[in-house]
Amino acid sequence: MEISVIGTGYVGLVTGVCLAHIGNEVTCIDIDKEKVNTLKKGISPIYEEGLTELMEENIKNGKLNFTSDYKEGLQGKKVVYIAVGTPQSDDGSADLTFVNRACESIAQNLEDDVIIVTKSTVPVGTNEYIKQKIEMDLKKEVNIKIASNPEFLRQGSAVYDTFNGDRIVIGSDDEHALELLEKINEGFGLPILKTDLRSAEMIKYASNAFLATKISFINEMANLSEKIGANIDLVAKGIGMDKRIGENFLNAGIGYGGSCFPKDTRAIISIGKQADYPMPILENVVDANERQRDILVDKVLNSYKDIHGKRIAVLGLAFKPNTDDMREAPSISVTEKLLEHGAIISAYDPVAIDNAKKVLSSKVTYATGIEEAIDGADLVLILTEWAEIKRFPLENYKAYMAKPIIFDGRNCHSLEAARASGVEYHSIGRPSIK
Ligand code: UGA
Repeated sequence: MEISVIGTGYVGLVTGVCLAHIGNEVTCIDIDKEKVNTLKKGISPIYEEGLTELMEENIKNGKLNFTSDYKEGLQGKKVVYIAVGTPQSDDGSADLTFVNRACESIAQNLEDDVIIVTKSTVPVGTNEYIKQKIEMDLKKEVNIKIASNPEFLRQGSAVYDTFNGDRIVIGSDDEHALELLEKINEGFGLPILKTDLRSAEMIKYASNAFLATKISFINEMANLSEKIGANIDLVAKGIGMDKRIGENFLNAGIGYGGSCFPKDTRAIISIGKQADYPMPILENVVDANERQRDILVDKVLNSYKDIHGKRIAVLGLAFKPNTDDMREAPSISVTEKLLEHGAIISAYDPVAIDNAKKVLSSKVTYATGIEEAIDGADLVLILTEWAEIKRFPLENYKAYMAKPIIFDGRNCHSLEAARASGVEYHSIGRPSIK
């Protein structure tokens, strides 16, 4: 099938590359010419495991092309995916600027009938709007069908998830569009759920909202466990064994971040407001997550009333491991608060330092490794559960710090290991080891 994909962010690029890999002829369109030139060389601008290999292979066999020219990119295509960003507006709703721009460019350059497929996360009802908008601006009389195909990919494992996810959702009010998209998607080998247009749009928001709720829930249980002397590891295990609850996504920590959960939870609350339906559960999920980001600094301040002039090593800056993404990373507010209280910060992250420099205060200094960051530090804060940080034995901190005190915001170490190491160890939802 001849397909174009508009937008080469992490969703668009992974979608385009993987659609080419299952045998389609794909042209990815992006208005950023410089980016397109890099992509043409097989270089991925984002860090996604396995993506570069698939890109190279499919560029070589002619299945995957890149262009910044809409006319060229849309020529002869039967299906056009929209995968541009929908960032958060000031009022929490999804900003559709890039979607609008993509619609205008599609309308100007379409020559044949197409199915438009929306991958971008858009408010319920937007697909109908997209169809109308393109139809209104069309230069040539062509027939347009619209479908929603939300993505459920995790950053860092997006290629893996494309072929190993739990389901593919295709929503359309047009039977022919549903059939054709089902055929295209069969190549991924996942269960396919066909729905109407609005339900597909809603499934995306409801999925992310549920997962965010699960995290805020387990964090609330963790905070209470700590107060009453229970251990959240065991609590999570015990509740997760109930299949109705499920064992995944029950890791307590300093809250969720990234480009999806914070944005999509606020967006669904905003959709509720527009529908005149308040969403108190999700409002509390968002508030609880904001508060959770302060938990670790609060613990530090409870133990040490004055951290002015204290040297603090911050390990892990990205919003989660295996990505260099700093969007809504808890490290942003944690470092801000530490600096407000006069701490001196030496930070380390295996891949996110370049991006961190763009968003963290210039007062933060960066180390090239864990050892350098903790050398001579008074306290250590762990903010991201990178494998490298988890593997670094707790005893080793003793070689670099006079009296190692660790505040672990991601429960990277077992309490047994902490006890055996002899370091002072505070974590989330578990008793402190002193
Ligand atoms: C999330 C969803 O998992 C994807 O299904 C969805 O497609 C994507 O958003 C999106 O809408 O594009 P992602 O943001 O890449 O994917 O990351 P996750 O791995 O889901 O983690 C999100 C945040 O939750 C991270 O900050 C992570 O540290 C936190 N988290 C996750 C926890 O605090 N505890 C957990 O048990 C799991």
